[in-house]
Amino acid sequence: MDTSAFFARLEAAFPADPQDCDPIDPQWQTIVADVSGFTARNELAVLNLAATCMPSSEAYLEVGTYKGRSICAAVQNNVDKRFYAVENFLEFGMAGQLARDELTSNLERYAAGSDIRLVEGDCFKFMSRPGAIDRPVGVYFYDGEHTLLAHYLALAVVEPLLADEALVLVDDATWPMVGRAHALFMRTHPGWRVQATWDARQVEDPRWANGLHALVFHRVADRPRTRRVDEVLRLYETGVQRHLNKAAWRCAAHVPEPAKDVVRAFMARSRAIGTDARRPPTSKG
Ligand SMILES: C[S@@+](CC[C@H](N)C(=O)[O-])C[C@H]1O[C@@H](n2cnc3c(N)ncnc32)[C@H](O)[C@@H]1O
Repeated sequence: MDTSAFFARLEAAFPADPQDCDPIDPQWQTIVADVSGFTARNELAVLNLAATCMPSSEAYLEVGTYKGRSICAAVQNNVDKRFYAVENFLEFGMAGQLARDELTSNLERYAAGSDIRLVEGDCFKFMSRPGAIDRPVGVYFYDGEHTLLAHYLALAVVEPLLADEALVLVDDATWPMVGRAHALFMRTHPGWRVQATWDARQVEDPRWANGLHALVFHRVADRPRTRRVDEVLRLYETGVQRHLNKAAWRCAAHVPEPAKDVVRAFMARSRAIGTDARRPPTSKG
C-alpha cells in the first residue's frame, strides 16, 4: 500500500482540511442516515479512499463490523478488492439473529457484488490463525473492543499480517486510553508512526465520531514476527478476559441504572473528549 499516495489523494476527497469540513461526496452521509452504526461521514470517506488506494494484491481488514456501516462505505466502487470483516456479535446485546439479519440486509443493499469475507468470531483468535487471510493486509480498520489491552493487541496481533507498507486506521482514537495503548505499543515495536489524527471536537462528533487516527507501518527487516509477551497477552484476552466480557454483557441488561452510572463514571476519564471529561461516555463498545 502506497500510504503517501493515500494521504495525497485525501485533498481531492475534501474541499479543505478534512478535520473541519464535510467530504465532497454526499453518499457518505446517506449511508450514515440509512445504516445504523457508529462511524461518521468523514470517517466513511477516509475508509473508502483507503480501500480505493489499496492494490488488489492486498486485503482490507476490518474488525468490528456491527451492522455494516463502515464496511458498506469501504466497498463502494471497489469490487476488485478483497475485504475481510470480523465481528463476534458480543456487544450491544447483539447475541440474537436480529443483528446478523440487519447486517446481511445492509450488505445486500450496499455491497452486492463486492468480495467480502464475513468472519463471525473473536478477532484476536481469527488474526492469529495461520493462513486466515490469503494476502498481505494493506489497510486495517480497527473498531472492535475499546480497552487499553484490546487496543494494544489490535496492533500487536495484526502486525505479522500487514503488508510491508500498510495503513492502519483506528476508531475512537480521541479517547485518551487509545493514545496510551498506541504509545505503549510503539515503545517496543519499531516501524510504526502516527501519521494523521482527526480528533472529535465533541462526543459523537458528526464528522469524526470519537476520532480517527491514521497510523503508517513499514516493516523493519529481520524482526521476529510475534513477540512472546504479545502472545501471552493475546491468550489472556481470548481466554480469561473474553469470559469476563461475556458475563458482563449478559448481566448488563439486569444491572440497575445507578450501578451503570458508577461504571460510566469510572470509564469517563479514559474515554473523555475535549472538555467533556465529566460526561458519561457513550454506550459504544
Ligand atoms: C463500535 S462497533 C463497530 C461499529 C461499526 N464499525 C460501524 O461502522 O458502525 C464495535 C463492534 O466490535 C465488535 N467486537 C468487539 N470485540 C470484538 C472482538 N474481540 N472480535 C470481533 N468483534 C468484536 C462488537 O460486537 C461490536 O459490534
